[in-house]
Amino acid sequence: MTQTIDLLITNTSQVCVVPSVSGGPQRGQALGTLGIIEDGAVAVDGGTIVEVGASSDLRGRYDASRTLDAGGKAVVPGFVDPHTHLAWVGDRAAEFEQRIGGATYMEIMAAGGGINSTVRQVRAASVEQLVAETRARLDRALRNGTTTVEIKTGYGLDTASELKMLDAIFRLAADHPATIVPTFMGAHAVPPEFDGRTDAFVDLIVQEMTPAVAEWLHSHSHENHVFVDVFCEPGAFDLAQSRRVLEAGLQYGMRAKIHADEFASIGGARLAAELGAVSADHLVTTPVDDLRILGQADTAAVALPATPFGLGHVHYTPARALIEAGGALALATDCNPGTAWCESMQFVMALACRYLRITPAEALTAATLNAAYAVGLGDRVGSLEAGKQADMLILDVADYRHLAYRFGGNLVRTVIKAGQVVG
Ligand code: NIG
Ligand code: FE
Repeated sequence: MTQTIDLLITNTSQVCVVPSVSGGPQRGQALGTLGIIEDGAVAVDGGTIVEVGASSDLRGRYDASRTLDAGGKAVVPGFVDPHTHLAWVGDRAAEFEQRIGGATYMEIMAAGGGINSTVRQVRAASVEQLVAETRARLDRALRNGTTTVEIKTGYGLDTASELKMLDAIFRLAADHPATIVPTFMGAHAVPPEFDGRTDAFVDLIVQEMTPAVAEWLHSHSHENHVFVDVFCEPGAFDLAQSRRVLEAGLQYGMRAKIHADEFASIGGARLAAELGAVSADHLVTTPVDDLRILGQADTAAVALPATPFGLGHVHYTPARALIEAGGALALATDCNPGTAWCESMQFVMALACRYLRITPAEALTAATLNAAYAVGLGDRVGSLEAGKQADMLILDVADYRHLAYRFGGNLVRTVIKAGQVVG
């Protein structure tokens, strides 16, 4: 008896399943378990994965309205990019040149540039312009294999402009093939009108912006799945201020994320674990004790190697220590106009193997399954397991390791989102 389905993908060299472990991410030494099926096939119906197994087996049991021949190449889960600032207008190429000349990122920010330079441009832009410029990046990310992407606000920094950013993000979510996870990041930087008055700005975030965002979401029937994030860093928000921002978001039903230990360590990773944050991100200068705390917490640890690379720095997330501590390592681009205009998770994997010293298998897991858990979607996307959304990539190569071994190009041939070919 054959079962009728929408789609059968056949003739693969390998299908990388990237299975979850006891319904969770691959933590610690389990990281990098790909569950490779050589000459595998994937059965899809109604946008959902029905079964993954040997081609010889699945061919006989399924009657598919459509068959996709993978041409003897590898199939992997669609990438999940769990940390981006993808919604912005303009660029900061001039600051890139300043940094080459010796200025640091935080110096440029303290002098009124950096994030606030993009804030000026976003405040002046229409929502349509914001959508158009962001869509171009989203399209490139999709072509490079990103089928789920988190996008933060944080270039508005006043209530109306933050809502404009949210509006742009939701407009894209409504008609773009990629799944978009929105994050409210009113605490991305202190805007010029609050210069030297960070506590007063945090008051505004807690008392006005957070409730306004919650109300906006409510009136647009988007009740669930919004994150709140804060840049916990000297020169941005200290630990007490970061706690206030996150607790306000939690109070309004948002889930927490944090930018922690990007340049200096002031306890952000610990705070993330304490508040049950879904992820703690950057983690370049995290002390050993805090790595241990993260290793025991449900909080995913998101490394963003394109950021130190983009800044020309030599220090990266101590991924091996994190893995040893039992942490759930994920990877993301951090795509933003200041530190890392990078739309490619493939390039992030290539960097991670070299500078975080993780294997291609560990990098693939961190860019798919664990990244899905880092945006709270681990039960829906990130692996090729029955019941999950059929988000997958047919590569141009027969061996998944080439995703990290080679760099600078795009090795994704076909992008499939919820069972549909979208790129
Ligand atoms: O994650 N560090 C804070 N935010 C971004 C940079 C944003 C920007 O410079 O525009 C980051 O690196
Ligand atoms: Fe960031």
